[in-house]
Amino acid sequence: MSLQYSASRILHDEHMASLALLGEVERVALAGKSTSSNAGEELGRLLVRLRRTLDGEVLAHFDFEEQALFPLLAEFGDGDLGQLLTEEHLVLREVFEDLGRCADNAAASGFSDESRTSIRRVCAELIERLQSHIEKEERALLPALENALTPETDAEVSARHYI
Ligand SMILES: [Fe+2]
Ligand SMILES: [Fe+2]
Repeated sequence: MSLQYSASRILHDEHMASLALLGEVERVALAGKSTSSNAGEELGRLLVRLRRTLDGEVLAHFDFEEQALFPLLAEFGDGDLGQLLTEEHLVLREVFEDLGRCADNAAASGFSDESRTSIRRVCAELIERLQSHIEKEERALLPALENALTPETDAEVSARHYI
C-alpha cells in the first residue's frame, strides 16, 4: 500500500511494530512448551517489555487515533468507523489491564503452572483482538484517512502525535 500522508504512515509503521511484538508473544508465551530453567525468565522479560509497550506506545497510539484522527473522519462522514474502532480500543484497554494483573500474579508466584495458564489465556486474547483490530485499521482506516486528509490537515494532526 502506498501511503501519501505522514499520519497514515505513522499508524502503519506502529501497526507493523505491534504485529512483530505479537509474533514474539506468540512464540514465547503461547508456543513455548520449554521446561528449561530459564523459560520463566524469558517469559518474565517479555512480559515486562510487552507491558511497557502496551501502556506506553500502544495506548498513545489509541489516543492519537481517537483524539486527532477519528474526529477528522467524522467530519468527512466516516464517524461510524471511528466509533467502532473506539469501542475496540475500550475492550483492548481492558485486556491490557487483565494482562498486567496476570503478569503481576505470575511474577509473585514465580511462574507457577497455574499462573502460566492465565498468562497464556490473556496473551491468546490479546493476540487475537489486537491483530484483528490492526487488520481492520489497515484495511479500512488507512484508506479512509488517505481520502480525508489534505497536506494541511496532515501536517496539523501529525504534529499532535505523542503530544
Ligand atoms: Fe491503529
Ligand atoms: Fe486503533
